[in-house]
Amino acid sequence: MRAVVGLLSALTLFLLMGVVITQRPRKPTKKPDSARRQPIPRPGRLPPLPRPGRLPPTPGPRRWPPTPGPRRWPPTPGLPRWPPTLGPEPKEPTDFPPVIMGPPSFFPDCPRECYCDPSYPSALNCENRNIRRVPVIPSRVHYLYLQNNYISELTAEPFANATELRWVNLANNRIKRIDKEVFGKVPSLLYLYLQKNQLREVPAQLPVGLEQLRLSKNRISKIPANAFKKLEHLALLDLHHNELSDRDLGKNTFKDLTRLIQLNLARNILKKMPAGVPASVIQLDYFEGLVHLAFVRLNYNQLSDKGVPRAVFNLTTLLDLQLSHNQLSSVPLFNAHLEHLHLDHNSIESINGTQICPHSLQDDGLMPKLRYLRLDGNHLSPPLPMDVTMCFRHLHSVVI
Ligand SMILES: *[C@@H]1O[C@H](CO)[C@@H](O)[C@H](O)[C@H]1NC(C)=O
Ligand SMILES: *[C@@H]1O[C@H](CO)[C@@H](O)[C@H](O)[C@H]1NC(C)=O
Ligand SMILES: *[C@@H]1O[C@H](CO)[C@@H](O)[C@H](O)[C@H]1NC(C)=O
Repeated sequence: MRAVVGLLSALTLFLLMGVVITQRPRKPTKKPDSARRQPIPRPGRLPPLPRPGRLPPTPGPRRWPPTPGPRRWPPTPGLPRWPPTLGPEPKEPTDFPPVIMGPPSFFPDCPRECYCDPSYPSALNCENRNIRRVPVIPSRVHYLYLQNNYISELTAEPFANATELRWVNLANNRIKRIDKEVFGKVPSLLYLYLQKNQLREVPAQLPVGLEQLRLSKNRISKIPANAFKKLEHLALLDLHHNELSDRDLGKNTFKDLTRLIQLNLARNILKKMPAGVPASVIQLDYFEGLVHLAFVRLNYNQLSDKGVPRAVFNLTTLLDLQLSHNQLSSVPLFNAHLEHLHLDHNSIESINGTQICPHSLQDDGLMPKLRYLRLDGNHLSPPLPMDVTMCFRHLHSVVI
């Protein structure tokens, strides 16, 4: 009898291990797309990232995001469900796994679901904790980490005393709604990360000191008038992978963003830029007045020659222009300062070096600086025409 019981427990243990092993481990959070971009030349502004390994280990492997359908969640820690009774699944399959509480804190004001590192009193770590509601933010906090949770709306109350907030990471939540009053509470905000949420429009009344705004991978199809008004310090605007179409971008949409360095509008449904303005009127364009603009991404849209004013990218500040996966049939005009040009996967049939060679009378015949050119996925075949290689002497990498 004892032997049988022993055998059974060994078998049970074996099965348990099997279950644990076959649980799919949580996907590691991918580096944001924009992290691979050239960083904004403004070192030393980033807060110290929380050192890995300081958080208490989260219990067991979790599935992220929770798969729909009947699930075993939650296996309440401390209440072993073993042996698996063949009874019914738990009656109430909740939408979300339970909030994971932080360790007891040195700070009396540390929210229970967060971790407050005694050596970084200005940081509040509440990421990866299944949080549904923003906790009350203590006034000492400058850096707020709330990414990878289930927050669905932002209300003003938790931010009432958070006047010192500089950096807020709310990426990968389910935010649909943001109260207008929220940003009035955080006048010092510099970095706002809201990528991978469910926003349908650009939030209104953003703090005027904002330097980085990441809104990629939402469902944004609307930019309210004046959304970017007065954002004179904004250096990075990331709107890639949304649902923006021509009517959302007027000729004044970006007008006030005079310090903008990086603009990412890739993976939207733009056909024309800007809408409603005849292509011949080259003075009126998106980028007029953006005198620091260096990185522009418009890949994966539906831009055609008709929709792109001939000189819209002829900006002396532009260093990197990405127009891959559009419907262009000719190479747009660009400036002698441009270094990287991505035109792959368009409908370009020919390329005339004489026509595209940037003449820079102002810069005393500056040699065009183009170094990297992608032309693959067009109707072109090598070699590159002689007049192109004659013009771009610095070109050392061409994909055709
Ligand atoms: C904000 O701070 C004041 C004064 O310290 C305090 O009385 C109040 O409860 C705080 N509000 C919140 C929402 O924490
Ligand atoms: C492009 O910009 C340069 C200044 O860098 C200017 O001289 C030139 O006329 C512009 N070309 C067109 C077609 O606007
Ligand atoms: C390229 O353009 C120039 C000027 O428009 C023209 O004279 C030349 O014939 C063109 N070259 C080719 C190969 O079409």
